[in-house]
Amino acid sequence: MPGRKTRGKFITIEGLDGCGKSTQLEKLAGVLRCDGLSVVVTREPGGTVIGEKIRAVLLDSRTSGLSPWAELALMFASRAQQVEETILPALAEGRWVLCDRFTDSSEAYQGGGRQLGSEAVLELHRILCRGLQPNLTILMLSDVDASVTRARRRNQAKIPSVVPATDVPPAADENRFEQESRAFFGRVARAYQAIARREPERVVAVDARRPIEVVHQEIVAAVRERLLGKKVSSF
Ligand code: TYD
Repeated sequence: MPGRKTRGKFITIEGLDGCGKSTQLEKLAGVLRCDGLSVVVTREPGGTVIGEKIRAVLLDSRTSGLSPWAELALMFASRAQQVEETILPALAEGRWVLCDRFTDSSEAYQGGGRQLGSEAVLELHRILCRGLQPNLTILMLSDVDASVTRARRRNQAKIPSVVPATDVPPAADENRFEQESRAFFGRVARAYQAIARREPERVVAVDARRPIEVVHQEIVAAVRERLLGKKVSSF
């Protein structure tokens, strides 16, 4: 990457909605902190004050009519801010950055799901993120059907049973992507698989359908082996 010298490590976690990424990222952060590392946990879209405002626009189910290209541009607006404000400074200080989603999400959701293709996503990444690549990406493999079912259940739970008597607009929620179809999530999953096949040295696929603790141990082993140069049997 041009410009600043990076000393810390950059790990991202990816997967379909509801695959358990956030839980695993927090657990991994705990292990790395116990190892004495300084760890920053962040997420996309969001992660900065400006990014969280962009997140609200992107995920609120009341945001309607957003064009797929505008959606992609907003994802990268949030990411460009996060790279400049959070990720590069932290890496330069030797900290480890754990990010819940990064450019692979744009390639999978906008490139695959919205069918914009990978080329535009990778080009925007090159320009706006200055080609910053994670040292390691954990791809959580889960069932498309499970994600869709879970999302539907969540959406239904959020529909108020009584219509409010006032004119107060409903509170913002984060359901816009979860309202997508099974076909959409199928395309997202296939795009993720294609990224994993293209970049096996960066992306480690983990079967996320197993118990949390089993998945956690596998993620810790991958991080230790690939980034700390330790054999799995050594911990
Ligand atoms: P997230 O908060 O990680 O949702 P979840 O915890 O349910 O997985 O991500 C919010 C949504 O934003 C998710 O549906 C994926 C979508 N997204 C994109 O479509 N493109 C992107 O580049 C990013 C970062 C997220």
